[in-house]
Amino acid sequence: MKEKGNFLGNAITEIPLKEQVLELKKKRNAVIVAHNYQLPEIQDMADYLGDSLGMARYAQKSDADVIVICGVHFMAESAAILNPEKTVLIPDLEAGCSLAECITADQLQAWKNGHPGAVVVAYVNTTAAVKALSDICCTSSNALKVVQSIPADKEILFIPDMYLGSWVRMQEPKRKIHLWNGSCHTHVRIRPEPIAELKKRHPKAEFLMHPECGCLTASMGLADHILSTDGIVRRAHESQAKEFIIATEVGILHRLEKENPGKKFYPAAEEASCEFMKKITLEKVLWSLEDMQYKVTVPKETAIAARKALDRMMEVS
Ligand code: 13P
Repeated sequence: MKEKGNFLGNAITEIPLKEQVLELKKKRNAVIVAHNYQLPEIQDMADYLGDSLGMARYAQKSDADVIVICGVHFMAESAAILNPEKTVLIPDLEAGCSLAECITADQLQAWKNGHPGAVVVAYVNTTAAVKALSDICCTSSNALKVVQSIPADKEILFIPDMYLGSWVRMQEPKRKIHLWNGSCHTHVRIRPEPIAELKKRHPKAEFLMHPECGCLTASMGLADHILSTDGIVRRAHESQAKEFIIATEVGILHRLEKENPGKKFYPAAEEASCEFMKKITLEKVLWSLEDMQYKVTVPKETAIAARKALDRMMEVS
C-alpha cells in the first residue's frame, strides 16, 4: 500500500488522524460502519458499531453516498448488494474471512445437486457468489429463527460454519440439517480447558459465548448464554453480574469495557484475535476516503440472486 501525504495539503500533518477522517467523511457524505471486532480507534469513530446483521441493516437505511465498511470483505459485499446505487469501500482488500473461504460456489452447487429440494441456509460469512446459490441467509443472531421459518419437512443444507450449524441443530433436533465442514480460524482457537479454569477462578462470572466457538459443544454446558456479538454487548449491559467470561474474538472487549465501567471482562482466549479484522486501521480509512478505494462491487446477476437470500433473512428477523 502506498505511503500517503496529508490530504488537506498541509506541509506537516499536525491534525490528528481521527479529525482528518471525520472531516473527509463529511466532504464525501460518507458513513463508517464498523464491526464489534475492529481496533479500538475504529470502533470509537464509527457512525455505527455492531454485529453483521446490524451493519447490514444500518447500511441499508443510510442515506449517505459512500459506505466505508470497517470489517471483512463479505460485510462489504453485503452492503454493496443491499445498496447497489451507493459506493461501498473497504479500506484494505486483504481483510478477508476464513469462514467465507470454506465454501466456493462450485462446491455448494455440487452439494445441492446431491440434495435436490433441500433449502440452503447460508451464514452471511459467505461470498456473494455463494449467497446467490442460497435460499436464505442468516447471522449468528437470527440463525435459529431463520431455520424455524423453513417448513419442517424440508431438508436443510447449512453453510459454512459447522459450530453455528450444530448449535441450531441442537435446538431443532427433529429437523434434517446437514452441516458443511467449515469453521472460523479465530474461534477455533478458543478451547474448553482454559474456560473451565477461568470459571474456577471467577465463579461468579457470567459466561457469554459466540456460537462460532470451536469448543461450542464441549463448553456449551458451562455457557450462560450463546449469543451474537451484539447479543453479548446487550447481555453485558442488562446483567446484574459484575464479571464476565467472553468467548469470542477479543476486539469486542474494548466496547464491553468502555460501555460497562465497573464490570470486569475476561477473554476466554487472548489469542482469539482475527488478523483480518485488524487489517483496518485509521490511516487506511483515511486513504480509503481520500482515494475512494477499494470499491466493492458485485456483478448484477449475482447481486440480484444474493439479495433475495438476504431479503428473506431480513423479513424473518
Ligand atoms: P456477529 O454477527 O455475531 O457479529 O458475528 C460476525 C462474525 O463474523 C463473527 O466471526
